[in-house]
Amino acid sequence: MINLFLLGLPGAGKGTVSEQIVDKYHLTHISTGDMFREAMANETKVGLEAKSYIDKGDLVPDEVTAKLVEERLSQSDIKEGYILDGFPRTIVQAEALETITKRLNKPLTKVISLEVNEKILINRLSARFMCKQCGATYNKITKMPKLKDTCDRCGSHDFYQREDDKPEVVKNRLEVNEKMNTPLKDYYQANGLLTSVNGEQTPEKVFENVDAVLGNKQ
Ligand code: AP5
Ligand code: MG
Ligand code: ZN
Repeated sequence: MINLFLLGLPGAGKGTVSEQIVDKYHLTHISTGDMFREAMANETKVGLEAKSYIDKGDLVPDEVTAKLVEERLSQSDIKEGYILDGFPRTIVQAEALETITKRLNKPLTKVISLEVNEKILINRLSARFMCKQCGATYNKITKMPKLKDTCDRCGSHDFYQREDDKPEVVKNRLEVNEKMNTPLKDYYQANGLLTSVNGEQTPEKVFENVDAVLGNKQ
């Protein structure tokens, strides 16, 4: 059983490597960012509350986020394990996660930190665009759709830039997340779960390294 937490600053490649891990290991991908974006698109109560923080690049309050993750982890479809992408983001959330996973008997087994320097993060975020229909992620420089203006995954022609990828928001988002990055790494270093991976390599190379940490299951 692999229960993984993927730690990394905005643009580090958490979503990208999660897709590759899911393909091989069949883990359930839990991205709080994706869940919030879906809730925002559906204009649910959580979505409307989250929007006011996300569009500014601030963190959604810990209680709201922890409750969302608790509900998701409680569902019965998590069979081969899970990947938490973008949660926990504060020590309060890390402690909440420990309580939740203890109760559900689904403890974290690995933490991987994707290391990417700030300049590269800014470049990646400014070049990222998304499919409006299915949320697939692209990049003007490194990952254009295979067929011009057509989503590889769902065939839609509708793309958009995330509100929080606009340059004025990215600056605050990086600052907010950088503040918590070292304490979180220290937290998982102390309990022996943390491995760091160089996230500045090609997506294939990054996955190769992550795969090795996860045990290279055939
Ligand atoms: P979230 O959606 O999680 O955003 P994030 O952490 O800022 O991370 P991103 O999704 O921007 O980046 P990523 O690491 O997934 O990179 P990606 O693979 O797309 O959260 C959004 C917001 O929700 C937060 O700001 C906060 O407000 C709120 N929120 C979420 N969780 C919360 C929590 N726990 N507590 C409180 N608030 C919370 O890659 C980026 C780009 O680079 C893409 O274009 C990709 O194609 C490209 N790329 C990826 N890897 C490579 C590579 N190896 N080489 C070249 N290009 C690459
Ligand atoms: Mg992401
Ligand atoms: Zn799509």
